[in-house]
Amino acid sequence: MRNPITILEDAFKHNFGVLPQVIVKAPGRVNIIGEHTDYNHGYVLPMALEQSIYIAGRTRSDSILNFTALNTQRTSIADINCPVRNPIEPWMDYIVGVVAELKKLGFTLKGVDGIIYGEVPIGCGLSSSAALEMATLKLFEMLNEFHLDDVESAKLGQRVENNFLGLKSGIMDQFISRCGKKDHALFIDCRTLNFELVPLKLSEHTFVISNTNYPRGLTDSKYNERVYECQKAVEILQKSSGKTGTYLRDFTLKDLENAKNDLEDTIYRRALHVITENQRVLDFLSALKNSNIEDLGILLNESDYSLQRNYEVTNRELEVITQIARSIEGCIGARMTGAGFGGCTINLVRKDCTEKFIDTLLSEYEKATGRKGSCIISSPSDGANIVKRY
Ligand code: GLA
Repeated sequence: MRNPITILEDAFKHNFGVLPQVIVKAPGRVNIIGEHTDYNHGYVLPMALEQSIYIAGRTRSDSILNFTALNTQRTSIADINCPVRNPIEPWMDYIVGVVAELKKLGFTLKGVDGIIYGEVPIGCGLSSSAALEMATLKLFEMLNEFHLDDVESAKLGQRVENNFLGLKSGIMDQFISRCGKKDHALFIDCRTLNFELVPLKLSEHTFVISNTNYPRGLTDSKYNERVYECQKAVEILQKSSGKTGTYLRDFTLKDLENAKNDLEDTIYRRALHVITENQRVLDFLSALKNSNIEDLGILLNESDYSLQRNYEVTNRELEVITQIARSIEGCIGARMTGAGFGGCTINLVRKDCTEKFIDTLLSEYEKATGRKGSCIISSPSDGANIVKRY
């Protein structure tokens, strides 16, 4: 397989007749546990993937952004002075969105010729969009000679989603894509934005990511509806508990049970998921530190049931693939990962069973759904960085 650097160098020379000034990359991510907790100011535990988005770039003498996405062979042009959305080339919105947010911070940016090469599967819950945002930001930092603090960078990426794209997402994806570390998962407190690198070297087990290949369509999905339902739960919990907290993070299971009669069933279940999921992340963290593999499996499964029954963000494909996974020898636990409504699952599997696990999972899944799934194994990797300077 050709490496992304050679691919990008060749493409750059072909398109622009010169080498780029720099190649940067930012990874996709898989969330191990802590789903739909980030925008509730809760806890998450993602890891960065080896699969990344690479961008080769060079400044121009004008204010034009001229980008090509190599995988899809699409080119799009925008102007730094007029950062607007592009309904025909929506992938360009992530780049222009970063520009719009950088301009708000007062940065003066130069035009760029850029070529993108991606290894992160698109639209399946592994955060190809956050990877593109964080790679773009790194590129602009290099080409315009400034440096943004890691946490500020993640916040900027979140604002691209919230302000430019209208998705009310939390900060997890951009945070891990920027701050991930090789061999570590990242425990993030999404309120304080304090984080802890957690060594992820399981001796006899590994995480296998399985892709249902059922596209997720995050922006079209019910994601914003869930955010709104959580806010609604908070309003009612504030009244019944007398607490002033403004996010579900501020309420306990006891507060929720006391308010049960005042809450619509759906809203109750949404809040139940978030409050219990936060606790599962903390429990997972201590099980990980104590190498208590069995507990890790139980917590993954419980998270999945709660996402299925209470948060209702699974679909048939996700439910089928996790159920099959749990029935295969060596699988300790399985759950959907990411926003849901399709996309990927994460499985904790005994290393000596991995090959058989993947074969059985994919063939049983195809039999049950008629769809071809796929699997990825990835070590935890570093966040956004410079690959090569010229
Ligand atoms: C998407 C969002 C994240 C997070 C997850 C669900 O990936 O971008 O902020 O809310 O869904 O945990």
